Parts: sequence; structure tokens; C-alpha cells
Amino acid sequence: MKAFAVDRYQKQAPLRLAEMPTPEPHEDEVLVEVHAAGVNLLDAKIRGGEFKLILPYRLPFILGHDVAGVVVKVGPRVRQFKLGDEVYARPDDFRIGTFAELVPVRETSLALKPRSLTMEEAASIPLVGLTAWQALIAKANLKKGQKVFIQAGSGGVGTFAIQLAKHLGANVATTTSTANVALVKGLGADVVIDYKTQDFEDVLRDYDVVLNSQDGKTLEKSLRVLKGGGKLISISGPPDPEFGKDIAAPGFVKLVMRLLSSGVRRKAQGRGIGYSFLFMKANGSQLREITRLIEAGAIHPAIDRVFPFESTNEALAYVEAGRAKGKVIVRLK
Ligand SMILES: NC(=O)c1ccc[n+]([C@@H]2O[C@H](COP(=O)([O-])OP(=O)(O)OC[C@H]3O[C@@H](n4cnc5c(N)ncnc54)[C@H](OP(=O)(O)O)[C@@H]3O)[C@@H](O)[C@H]2O)c1
Repeated sequence: MKAFAVDRYQKQAPLRLAEMPTPEPHEDEVLVEVHAAGVNLLDAKIRGGEFKLILPYRLPFILGHDVAGVVVKVGPRVRQFKLGDEVYARPDDFRIGTFAELVPVRETSLALKPRSLTMEEAASIPLVGLTAWQALIAKANLKKGQKVFIQAGSGGVGTFAIQLAKHLGANVATTTSTANVALVKGLGADVVIDYKTQDFEDVLRDYDVVLNSQDGKTLEKSLRVLKGGGKLISISGPPDPEFGKDIAAPGFVKLVMRLLSSGVRRKAQGRGIGYSFLFMKANGSQLREITRLIEAGAIHPAIDRVFPFESTNEALAYVEAGRAKGKVIVRLK
């Protein structure tokens, strides 16, 4: 099969379009014929070697973390899926590889594709949808009437997280640049801060939850817009000791995580704020909940551009440039 592979860790190095062996699904996996694959910054970061400590992939490997497609083979222990099912998923770490004609996915990480979505739309959902779900519901326990600040509302995570937070009944503030103000308002954001002309720290007060996806300076400022008892959840680092435990990292990696996050944890503690780092995980049952919200019309996909499969490197470069409005997809079928 055709696939885009990483041969060595290097920033901005093009992926190699290669002829690879057809993958064999494990007993608890199905083989998915890929119709569309979502592109994520995580792909660029892994290729650049930024995640080597957390996710030590053996080279060469196929990149890609989001898939929508059709089940073409079923492992003997799979119970919930059959040949021909239209499905979508964020495959598990170490089983990624959706920039390919076929990818095996664990049954427990898979869900039926929302009927109302095209394959391209479905491929835009899993990684960012699960990230928003795990941050706002699993970690923050966001409730009706609470105030949440979601940074970068026009990005892949932001476009989904704003809609999820509104569905939960929260009051949503977000940041974006002038050109995307209408987009985030259309998604339901109540307070929109144009970061080109305003500093969010001057506008926001007493927030219950912040979803941080930007740099260290933004993380530090976020502490000052939260109220005592509030929650700061960061998806862009620094990782905390809890995360080290979660992934059973070796001792020295745990120590690095403890040191990297000691500053923000200390400042958060001083203000009575809970700090936590989130690295999203594959999860089929949460994805089924997301399917229900999409089919009920509560959440709509936000797609910026669709590239043909042959242009996967261009798609990745577009995402890396940091200006995507919603998601970027590569189409195979
Ligand atoms: N830990 C995890 O599990 C996890 C999961 C998903 C993503 N992430 C991380 O979260 C971050 C966001 O991911 P993403 O997929 O949403 O990224 P993305 O879609 O590539 O983000 C692009 C968007 O960010 C906006 N943006 C750029 N600089 C901004 C700023 N200073 N303030 C506000 N908005 C800004 C851009 O809007 P303008 O063009 O208007 O500037 C653009 O719409 C990345 O670092 C990613 O690696 C982590």
C-alpha cells in the first residue's frame, strides 16, 4: 500500500511517499480502508522529534492520527464492528499511521462514523474532539453557567471546544485574530478577544476554567484570569508529574516533567488554582458520545482545506504554518 513515512526525525523534512507492506490487524483490531485523514500539529511535532521522550517511535514509521474510512478486515476478537462499517477514529499511540491506504485500529478506539458527515468531515473530528472532551468534561467537569476561556478559538481544537462548551451551557471566551472574529462568534463564543488589538488579561476576570494551547507566557497570564478554585488545563505543556505516572514514563523522564512544570504548579498552588497537563488519548466510547452530539446537530465540523493524498506534505506544511481555520484533511477516496 501507499503511505507517507518518517525516515528520520527532522523538523520540516518531507515525509517519504513509500510502498509499504499491507498491515495485519491484531486480534482486537479492524483494518480500515482510509478514505480521509485529518492532519494535526502533533504529526509535525512527532516528525520533528519533539515527542521522542514521550512517544519513542521506531523508525521508519507511518504518520497520521485521524481516520475516517471503511472496515475491510476484522480481527477474531472484535465484537462490535463488521466488514463494510463506516468508521472513524484517533488510533492509539504506537498504532498511528493514517497517512496510508490502510490502517489497523483497535476496536476500543473506534466508533461508527456520524451518518450526517462525509468522510472528510468525519476525519476532522477524532483527535480535536477527544481533546476537547477530555479537557472540558473529563478533567474540568465544566458545568452550565461556568465561565471558560478557550484559547485560539479558530484552530482545530478551538473550533470544536467552543461548540462543546456551549453545548454544556458554559459562557465561552476565546482569542483569535481580526480575520477570524466572525468565525468564532458563529461557533457560539460569547466573548471574543482579538489578540492583535487586545490583551485577554485586561478583559477576562474570575474564570472557572482555561484551556491553554499557546506558549509559556500565555500560560502564566492565564493564571491571572482564573478565580480561586479554578482549573488551568494545558494541552501545549509543560507536562506534569501526574502525566508521567499516567504513561509509566521512566524515572528520569518523570523528573524532567516535574522540573518543567514546577514553576507553573507553584504559582497555581499559590492562587488556589489546579494545574494539569493533558495529552489526549484514543477512546472509542467518548467518540461515540461525540457522534451523538454531531448527529443531534450540537456540533458541526469546521474544515479549512482538503488536500489530495499525494499532497500530504503540503497539507502538513499548511498546518505547521499555524493559520488554519479549523481542520485540514487529506482525501484518499
Ligand atoms: N496535548 C494534546 O493532547 C493536544 C491535542 C491537540 C492539540 N494540541 C496542541 O494544541 C495546540 C493547538 O492545536 P490546534 O490543532 O488547535 O492548532 P491549529 O489548528 O494549528 O491552530 C491554528 C489556529 O491558532 C490560532 N492562533 C495562532 N496564534 C494564536 C494566538 N497567539 N492567540 C490565539 N489564537 C492563535 C490561529 O488563528 P489566527 O490565524 O487568527 O492567529 C489559527 O486559527 C497545538 O500546540 C497542538 O499541538 C495538544
